[in-house]
Amino acid sequence: MPQLSASIKSKLPKVGTTIFSKMSALAAQENAINLSQGFPDFDCSPKLVELVSKAMKSGANQYAPMSGLIGLREQISEKTEKLYTGKYKPDTEVTITAGATQAIFTAIAASIEEGDEVIIFTPAYDCYEPAIDLAGGICIFVELKSPEYRINWDEVKKLINQRTKMVIINTPHNPTGTIMTGQDMLQLEKILDKSDILVLSDEVYEHILFDGYEHQSVARFPKLAERSFIISSFGKTYHTTGWKIGYCLAPEKLMTEFRKAHQYNVFSVHTPSQQAYAEFLEYEDEYLNLKHFYQKKHDLFKDAIKESRFNPYQTAGSYFQLLDYSNISDENDIEFAERLTKEFKIASIPTSVFYNRKVDQKVLRFCFAKQDETLLRAAEILNKI
Ligand SMILES: Cc1ncc(COP(=O)(O)O)c(C=O)c1O
Repeated sequence: MPQLSASIKSKLPKVGTTIFSKMSALAAQENAINLSQGFPDFDCSPKLVELVSKAMKSGANQYAPMSGLIGLREQISEKTEKLYTGKYKPDTEVTITAGATQAIFTAIAASIEEGDEVIIFTPAYDCYEPAIDLAGGICIFVELKSPEYRINWDEVKKLINQRTKMVIINTPHNPTGTIMTGQDMLQLEKILDKSDILVLSDEVYEHILFDGYEHQSVARFPKLAERSFIISSFGKTYHTTGWKIGYCLAPEKLMTEFRKAHQYNVFSVHTPSQQAYAEFLEYEDEYLNLKHFYQKKHDLFKDAIKESRFNPYQTAGSYFQLLDYSNISDENDIEFAERLTKEFKIASIPTSVFYNRKVDQKVLRFCFAKQDETLLRAAEILNKI
């Protein structure tokens, strides 16, 4: 293509191709086991596929309402109340989105203005910062320290000022696998009390918690919920990351603004999948048993690498396992992750990419949403390193 003189000044000069795409491409090129990007290498329930095709055959092929099919919104509202007690009105407080990513982008676009400060805990999932940058907001990073990655609420309190507009939390957490406790939520509630500060709570791994831990959704805490966008994703819950459907819950005042941005962003999302999820949500075991399904994979993987020179961190939720390799190499985590992929044929994600300051802690993230056989083959490789 000839280069025209016309050009645009990048609004995201720091952004390139995400590490997830890069590592997945490298894994494919090197024919390596791919434990880098967070998606299952097994299929979703055939029942769910049947339900989508039933919806398509029955003619559910035109635009869904802007906020999503009412049947699906009702199911989400009921589930949220049953699990977390929070009450969200399906007609005005639940919106179906094109995955959690779009919900996060939309919540930020709808509420952040030029110069607003947004507190982000790092390491952090990568889609928050660019959305804030595009909205003209300013990211205030709070670094969590390994291996516990706990939030120091006194530190957060000191950062809050007149310009603070939003705090973003993520539990269970990507990439660390930590979770926020009820105490954390109460501390956050207390710090934000009497302010107008909003919360964006990324809860996409809400059904993947281990060892008897319970998910502390913002929806359990009315005083937090009244200032929060809660965001979740069916991709993580139903092994359907490629369908890109998620949702946002928020009190009506916030949701009204969210929908103004949503309707000119995507308007509405894939109708047959929404119909299928609405029916599938009736089988509550499908989401309630997810934690047992992933606990087995977590235990299998961790047990299989227990003799290796990698040092595993505790994973309380999500489908990620952090491994410290400081016993093995001094290389920085990006170099080491690349070498593991090329030389040993196993791909992971270096955790420095989740930090604004690219903090290298000699820790890699491995995704265990994989078939047992894949995990055992991966462990065999790791044990030899
Ligand atoms: C913490 C977190 N939030 C949001 C997302 C995006 O979810 P979706 O694929 O539904 O956009 C992911 C996906 O990996 C994630 O890990």
